[in-house]
Amino acid sequence: MKAGAPGVFRQAPGFPAFLTDQQEKGSTPMPIVFHPQSRTFHLHNASISYIFKVLPSGHLGQLYCGKALRDRPDFDRLFETAPRSMSVCYFDGDDAYSLEHIKQEYPTCGAGDMHLPALDAQMPDGSRLLDLRYQKHTVTPGKPPIEGLPATYAEQDSEATTLTVTLADPLAGVTVKLFYTLFEQLPALARHAEIACTGQGPVQLDRAMSLCLDLPDSGYEMVELTGAWARERHVTTRPLAEGVQAVYSLRGHSSHHFNPFLALKRPDCGEMAGEVYGFSLVYSGNFLAQADVDPYHVTRVTMGIHPQNFRWTLRPGETFSTPEAVMVYSDRGLNGMSQTYHQLYRTRLARGVWRDKVRPVLVNNWEATYFAFNEEKLLTLAAQAKALGIELFVLDDGWFTHRSNDHGGLGDWEVDTAKLPGGLKGFAEKLNAMGLQFGLWIEPEMVNAGTRMWDEHPDWVLHQPGRRPQPSRHQYVLDYSNPDVVDFLYRRLEALLDGVPVSYIKWDMNRSISDAFSCAAGPAGQGEVLHRYILGLYRLYDRLTSRFPQILFESCASGGARFDPGMLYYAPQCWTSDDTDAVERLKIQYGTSFVYPVSSMGAHVAAVPNHQLDRVTSLTTRANVAFFGAFGYELDLTQLSPRGQELVARQVEFFKQHRRLLQFGAFWRLQSPFAHNEAAWMTVSPDRETALVGDYLILQQVNAGYRRIRLAGLDPSRLYRVTPLGSGAAPCGQPYTAGGDELMQAGLVTTGGSQAQHEGDFVS
Ligand code: DGJ
Repeated sequence: MKAGAPGVFRQAPGFPAFLTDQQEKGSTPMPIVFHPQSRTFHLHNASISYIFKVLPSGHLGQLYCGKALRDRPDFDRLFETAPRSMSVCYFDGDDAYSLEHIKQEYPTCGAGDMHLPALDAQMPDGSRLLDLRYQKHTVTPGKPPIEGLPATYAEQDSEATTLTVTLADPLAGVTVKLFYTLFEQLPALARHAEIACTGQGPVQLDRAMSLCLDLPDSGYEMVELTGAWARERHVTTRPLAEGVQAVYSLRGHSSHHFNPFLALKRPDCGEMAGEVYGFSLVYSGNFLAQADVDPYHVTRVTMGIHPQNFRWTLRPGETFSTPEAVMVYSDRGLNGMSQTYHQLYRTRLARGVWRDKVRPVLVNNWEATYFAFNEEKLLTLAAQAKALGIELFVLDDGWFTHRSNDHGGLGDWEVDTAKLPGGLKGFAEKLNAMGLQFGLWIEPEMVNAGTRMWDEHPDWVLHQPGRRPQPSRHQYVLDYSNPDVVDFLYRRLEALLDGVPVSYIKWDMNRSISDAFSCAAGPAGQGEVLHRYILGLYRLYDRLTSRFPQILFESCASGGARFDPGMLYYAPQCWTSDDTDAVERLKIQYGTSFVYPVSSMGAHVAAVPNHQLDRVTSLTTRANVAFFGAFGYELDLTQLSPRGQELVARQVEFFKQHRRLLQFGAFWRLQSPFAHNEAAWMTVSPDRETALVGDYLILQQVNAGYRRIRLAGLDPSRLYRVTPLGSGAAPCGQPYTAGGDELMQAGLVTTGGSQAQHEGDFVS
């Protein structure tokens, strides 16, 4: 084909690659365009297009979602219909116009679509029929917040544009607003829905998804993050097949087991290239994320609060907001998808003074002492930590009364003065005098039997009167759906923290929620309890983080059971897993990085043999893995040999020197521990001047072959000085220079060096 022949789009020098109608007419380009004649919405920026239209019936038909397309007055060719016998027809005699076969934006139940819907409600007459049709729309600069819920945001109006489309079914008395925010610089679209009862009501919502997307084919693999306690967020991939495939949580928190995320990737999509759609829910409770493939190979993705155990009553004039779901498109492979999530979640979901600040190096006393400590022991550990360069001392579980093991104590939040004679204030001041900051563990959603809270407020515990609630880790869940409970805890925690120089809080949550019955809710409100619990949790986080804006919050739920975007809005980092073994952490951190930025992953060097699985790894390997996270130590530093102390001091110094790069650089996964005996990843500074590569060999191989890793994200035209690092991150081997192109194309030669065969297993 000759240049300029039909089919070739040639870009004239100095012109933008994509021309919109407005640009053709000379007006300001808008990333969200409405073409009135074809009633088509085109949400687009330089990398993504999302197109749908108002159909003749008033329903919203999905036309395209993917790589950016030039804007056109219409995209009607993408509206696929074919006459199909036996279909339910919207217009009598037109058997090509069936909601059963039309790809839709927010499908409902009973009005012709036979798939699982986005919205399912029961109206006052018992009907479940909902037929939502277009009323109006607005396009506004910026992004409105979602009342009471975490969400991505825009700092300047120019960063994002929001389309709101209003749909209504007057007979049902239901109005739905669909919100779509397109970020100007990112291939990311944030969506949520607001459902209102505009009739006599009440309307009962049984399913209200945040996002629905009908994709025209099913040639995808579904990627999900699965696991269990201490092996969270392993990467699992399976081809889509006809029928429903889903991940979910019914545990009251987002869970160790599945993360509120799924991706659909083309089978040839890998880390570095290929097409993938990511879907991530900004929510911390029960969720459902599913792909439903119909017999015509249309794939419907839905994501939102899990409909099981959910029933929300809307009275006249009331509205319900779903949580936000964020869709990301990448044609640069899985790394491209992850980097978009990292950038968006790190800079426009996380908030507060700690968002852009490098995180302090901490020592946490949990694996060092468990419950067996007193002030003297802690101060000895702290003195050693300080001597090694550590900045923050975190006092974990066990500092309050009746807490010598995990059978008692939760709920009263009174300092055990037998352990800390000067209280939290006295202890914190001693740390401060040493030059260390003070951090504190709390678990404010729980109560143990036998505490004052338990005895005085039995109705504040989630349970059904007359039925024994079931303990887990010997504890019970407080009813955060009851505003009185949230208010009480706010006041208790405020009083506890007030006047104490606390720099950091680790907020733990150590069980799944059972017995989700609220004594405060009444019969009609029980279906709302689990969502109201999460709203109460968010409210408490919001109040505490607003009252103590200088405190760095780290969320935690028996390790990583609530590692989700909702939590990141309040706490910019999260304890990634209770598994502190370096080799297990390779998988956990690799999987976590599919969605979450390195700065959000709490990662500690722990003792060996490792407390979760007895494995012995070198101090160097443990630090080399933990460096790629919010770095710290969680072992008895006083037990280190002189050589160990020297190594830790060097590691801390190295980390401090490079933490901005490690925590905020562009993170690339290079080699997967799920597929290989080696793992590798790297982080690159925004100016592409500096990069750090983590390269890990799991099991040694006798007489092994040669190995190179192809790096990524470098400037191909630059010369880089390559410094191999060994124990204590000290330079080892001869530095040399290599071109960015060479390192990315030919690869970094890793044969030999620190991976000499005599070093044993688990080296890096
Ligand atoms: C579970 C957390 O994940 C641990 O780090 C530790 O804080 C314990 N809870 C304390 O009970």
